[in-house]
Amino acid sequence: MADTDKLPVGDHLVDKMQRRRRLAEIVSPLPDYPRIITVSNQKGGVGKTTTTVNLAAALARRGANVLVIDLDPQGNASTALGVPHRPEITSIYDVLLGDDDIPDAIQPTSDHENLWCVPSTINLAGAEIELVSLVAREQRLRTALNDFLESSERRFHYVFIDCPPSLGLLTVNAFVAADEVLIPIQTEYYALEGLSQLLGNIELIQKHLNPTLRISTILLTMYDSRTKLSQEVAGEVRNHFPDQVLTSVIPRSVRISEAPSYGQTVHAYDAPSIGALAYLEAAAEMADRGARKAASTDSDEDGKA
Ligand SMILES: Nc1ncnc2c1ncn2[C@@H]1O[C@H](COP(=O)(O)OP(=O)(O)OP(=O)(O)O)[C@@H](O)[C@H]1O
Ligand SMILES: [Mg+2]
Repeated sequence: MADTDKLPVGDHLVDKMQRRRRLAEIVSPLPDYPRIITVSNQKGGVGKTTTTVNLAAALARRGANVLVIDLDPQGNASTALGVPHRPEITSIYDVLLGDDDIPDAIQPTSDHENLWCVPSTINLAGAEIELVSLVAREQRLRTALNDFLESSERRFHYVFIDCPPSLGLLTVNAFVAADEVLIPIQTEYYALEGLSQLLGNIELIQKHLNPTLRISTILLTMYDSRTKLSQEVAGEVRNHFPDQVLTSVIPRSVRISEAPSYGQTVHAYDAPSIGALAYLEAAAEMADRGARKAASTDSDEDGKA
């Protein structure tokens, strides 16, 4: 990938045009089964929510039906998707702790006709404590989501779960409900701090609660190619996780950070921007990797038969 920040303006535009053209030529395969992806990193402010909503919106624009579950009491994903999430609205809190099901809480988004959201409300702030005394407290999201996906007339291709910056019961519910973990890593100092704790927790979940969970994707965010630090951190992460890190990186971009205050994804807010392009590229790469993985799993199974 070109180091766009170092290019003169003219070259920058040409590079962007070429990347757009390349993207337009790629058809993103749709998965046969819904890919359920938990977006997690217990470090705060690394781009979990930004990645959740913009990747989800990018995949919707590439033809997939996508559901975002906002599992963070802060409700930032609901805000960025322009979905109402006042305390009285039926939300993921009522699904996890009340008698409501996902169809009672799901809302269309103004962002794209293929994109839906189950919002979070501030009520979820008490959920970590309220969940403790419940039966099957780690499985509640999984049960609700499986019931929904099995009974829904619409076929969903992707479900993204946006997690809070902690490793409590809400995040455990997300890990148990998912097949894949996507870890956004901010390309800054201390980027890898706390990562071993996250990996340890994922291992525990694999051992005790969800053996099929895997870290499928790592996305480098807020990348600034002008700084040596960004390059060094990116290199270090790629060395540690050569198979998981996407080639696409998300640049630090004012347009990306402005979009949520308008209740929009970057695609709705500024479709021609470099930030929107980067998320579309990352989405295409994820779709492609998923299809390759499915194909290699199929051929492994054929080999065994
Ligand atoms: N690529 C980017 N360029 C510029 N700003 C960004 C980028 N990605 C995220 N931000 C900004 O960084 C801040 C943190 O991002 P975000 O809310 O997505 O992180 P988070 O990991 O979800 O945070 P939390 O841990 O609080 O849930 C936000 O203000 C967001 O707008
Ligand atoms: Mg967040």
